[in-house]
Amino acid sequence: MSVSVTVRQANSKDADEIAKLHARCFARGWTAREFAALLIQDGVHAWVAATDDNAIDGFAVIRTVLDEAEILTVAVDPERRRGGIGRALLIHAFAELDKNGVARCFLEVAQDNDAALGLYRRLGFEVTGKRANYYANPSQGRVDAVTMTRIIAK
Ligand SMILES: CC(C)(COP(=O)(O)OP(=O)(O)OC[C@H]1O[C@@H](n2cnc3c(N)ncnc32)[C@H](O)[C@@H]1OP(=O)(O)O)[C@@H](O)C(=O)NCCC(=O)NCCS
Repeated sequence: MSVSVTVRQANSKDADEIAKLHARCFARGWTAREFAALLIQDGVHAWVAATDDNAIDGFAVIRTVLDEAEILTVAVDPERRRGGIGRALLIHAFAELDKNGVARCFLEVAQDNDAALGLYRRLGFEVTGKRANYYANPSQGRVDAVTMTRIIAK
């Protein structure tokens, strides 16, 4: 079921909340200090999504170099998934990147990450290649990465 989602640009004051959510979503969390440093880097853009209670329910961090963008991380609170938050975050991000002249977006994703692959395909990303044994998976050893691209102005 879709919920009403507000997406806004993140700033370094959001680093604590983003790090807490990141730690709930990934096996290896990034610290608040790492996020604070990342969010002020040149070319790094981040957005957070909030639903009803104003807490951060999702975030996306994207790095741009000239007219290219790369998704560094995107995640949604496990209790809020399948409500359209991930899609809303990235659609908002792509609209802003488009205004800033970004032409295409790249990413890599573990080939067993069905949710992320589903989200990216739904948003029009196309598979461009594979990186063998790219990720360490605690239960399965190494997992391949799939590389994907999307034209921003659609
Ligand atoms: C990937 C992730 C961000 C998706 O966020 P979300 O808010 O649940 O996604 P949405 O509700 O916006 O879903 C949009 C579309 O993505 C696809 N999708 C989302 N979750 C899916 C799943 N579990 N399986 C298959 N497709 C899925 C669907 O096409 C969905 O549209 P639909 O619900 O109308 O069918 C979320 O699952 C997550 O945080 N995962 C853990 C972190 C992660 O792996 N990040 C990506 C690293 S590359």
